[in-house]
Amino acid sequence: MDKVTVSRLWKMKAAGEKIAMVTAYDYPTAMLVERAGLEMILVGDSVGMVVLGYESPVPVTVDDIVHHTKAVVRGAKAPLVVADMPFMSYHVSREQAVTNAARLIQEGGADAVKLEGGKEVASTVKALVDVGIPVMAHIGLMPQRASVGGSFKVQGTDADTAAAIVEDAVALGDAGAFSVVLEFVTAETAEVITQIVDMPTIGIGSGPNCDGQVLVLHDLLGVYDEAPSFARPYADLNTVITEALTEYRDDVRSAKYPSEKYTVHMEGTEAKKLKKKRG
Ligand code: KIV
Repeated sequence: MDKVTVSRLWKMKAAGEKIAMVTAYDYPTAMLVERAGLEMILVGDSVGMVVLGYESPVPVTVDDIVHHTKAVVRGAKAPLVVADMPFMSYHVSREQAVTNAARLIQEGGADAVKLEGGKEVASTVKALVDVGIPVMAHIGLMPQRASVGGSFKVQGTDADTAAAIVEDAVALGDAGAFSVVLEFVTAETAEVITQIVDMPTIGIGSGPNCDGQVLVLHDLLGVYDEAPSFARPYADLNTVITEALTEYRDDVRSAKYPSEKYTVHMEGTEAKKLKKKRG
């Protein structure tokens, strides 16, 4: 697959072709995402919960995202890699936002950055776009805010709140965002946004009418016992990995592993000579 570009994503939207995106945080999974032919990878701040064991994305730092983005871009060349801007890495000032976004691009090797927020962050989006950094917006449920007192509920359930989300999407598109994540908004809201903005909409828990979908890799692969209600597990790695580890443990205990197949021997009479020397 050729390197995915923003212009290719826009052409896909225009042609009605759906865009597939998933999170990845390391080299081997990025390699597998590329092998499966997905268009986009998000190095999300969900790394905090699904890889680093935090309760929320709040403790994730720019250094964390740089570190994980470096591994991802070594594993995946073709997908467009988007690095998340963590909590408080773009709120202090435009300068702070540009400096941190530049680190994700320059040190991390990301193709674009993502940041959460509605029209209140439109000027930050514009500041990044103005210096040449492609920005993916993120509205609806915003985990960085939900973790510090916001709501983990579905967004846009009535006409007024839905209209506010639509307004945010329009403002972010006008500011130059190349795409927008719509997280856990009602399908009707997502459909309206998808129809009225030029940029591709990427849904997560927001119904089938977005231009593409994104899922957290560990939810998709069924790594944890629990996942959001909207995330379909396409595999049951929890069971596969636990069974493999249990079998390995039993084989080690019973000396069944390593068997002859996994053992190497000295050549010819070397073993006898060794025994003579040391035995
Ligand atoms: O960090 C993340 O994984 C995300 C997705 C939920 C879109 O922002």
